[in-house]
Amino acid sequence: MDKIVIEGGCRLRGEVAVSGAKNAALPLIAASLLTEEEVFLENVPQLGDVRTMLHLLIRMGVKAETPDPHSVSLRAEGLNAWEAPYEMVKTMRASILVLGPLLARWGRGRVSLPGGCSIGSRPINLHLMGFERMGARIRLREGYVEAESERLHGSHILFDISTVTGTENLMMAACLAEGETILENAAREPEVVDLAQLLISMGAKIEGAGSRRIAIEGVKDLKGARRRIIPDRIEAGTLMVAAGITKGDVFVREAIPEHMPIFIEKLKEAGLGIEIENGGIRARMDRRPRPVNIKTLPYPGFATDMQAQMMVLASVGQGRSTISETVFENRFLHINELMRMGANIRVEGSTAIIQGVPELSGAPVMATDLRASACLVLAGLAAQGITSISRVYHLDRGYEGIERKLSALGARIERVPE
Ligand code: EPZ
Repeated sequence: MDKIVIEGGCRLRGEVAVSGAKNAALPLIAASLLTEEEVFLENVPQLGDVRTMLHLLIRMGVKAETPDPHSVSLRAEGLNAWEAPYEMVKTMRASILVLGPLLARWGRGRVSLPGGCSIGSRPINLHLMGFERMGARIRLREGYVEAESERLHGSHILFDISTVTGTENLMMAACLAEGETILENAAREPEVVDLAQLLISMGAKIEGAGSRRIAIEGVKDLKGARRRIIPDRIEAGTLMVAAGITKGDVFVREAIPEHMPIFIEKLKEAGLGIEIENGGIRARMDRRPRPVNIKTLPYPGFATDMQAQMMVLASVGQGRSTISETVFENRFLHINELMRMGANIRVEGSTAIIQGVPELSGAPVMATDLRASACLVLAGLAAQGITSISRVYHLDRGYEGIERKLSALGARIERVPE
């Protein structure tokens, strides 16, 4: 396993391009199961989770070609397996996204229950509730979800909790169901909209993606399509925080401000200069951050995937900041590692209270989950001295070449075998 070693104290300057969004690439790759024709995706990020999803589809019999490192051609003419095995699902819970397409096109699917995850129990009850409402028979056996249906029919599905992959799974299933499906209290994330746009270009009839109410009129079959995946708003936000925490000046090319409205407001509140320029966002900082109070919420609220990154910015800020995590029940695992670097943070229930300190000190730390590892990289950039981060496979799941991007901005960062 590799580790990342950072010598802190460099102000980041320059321009960096954001990769394609992980959380759009995963559902869009799964959507290729809905048609026998070619689905061609561009701006595909080179990430661990994307490789896992492609491997899962290839294992089922999907033909995949990568004409260049950031494009993939997928063709699901016929399958020889309709299953997502435990050894794959346990490394990537988004594998559950194959169940909707498998049910919709083949009337069958067997997917391992994802099991727990470090940030929370993350059940899939809302996915399964929706499939049952659409006429699927669901059985839980030997740690697997076994689903089958002659033909799915439309239904009116109300989510009591806004679920991103739940919305995506059921939207894909509804495309080939008989009649109309309404998804109420649907997730509004940009990645849901990106998936809807791909499905519509495949011939699906979808209205309201990006709003709380999505209406899908089932069609008989879907065609192939071509789509460029949207930029990764979480990577863009992480790079903007990197500029803020090092008192730098970075232009993040391809960042889309409409994908992060509240996040940008909070960065401005913290004292960053934010300029929306053609084709990206410029983030500058010349002072210690001001305190901020944040509550994570489903989109368009402050993204839970940006919580850890904002916490490290607040940890070197002035005064007292608070961050409430309302989406996942255990997404504070980075706090212990930050405190080993000198951060002053205490937790009361689902709220972290951060008393800003003038400086963090470098230390050996351990990544615990994807966004926590990004937060430790940011801490290392700002800390005095050397920080070494182990278990960086967490980072590689969601960030393409982060050390290459940061060193191009002037960071002293390298990846070394552990
Ligand atoms: C997606 O996960 C993202 N992953 C996550 O990003 C992101 O943190 C999350 O949405 C919230 O924005 C992908 O898109 C691949 P949810 P997802 O279903 O869909 C509860 C990252 O770092 N819930 O929106 O699994 C759930 O427990 C990852 O890139 C149910 O109770 O999240 C959570 O409390 C981490 N029952 C809340 O809803 C269900 O059936 C939101 O979860 C489904 C969800």
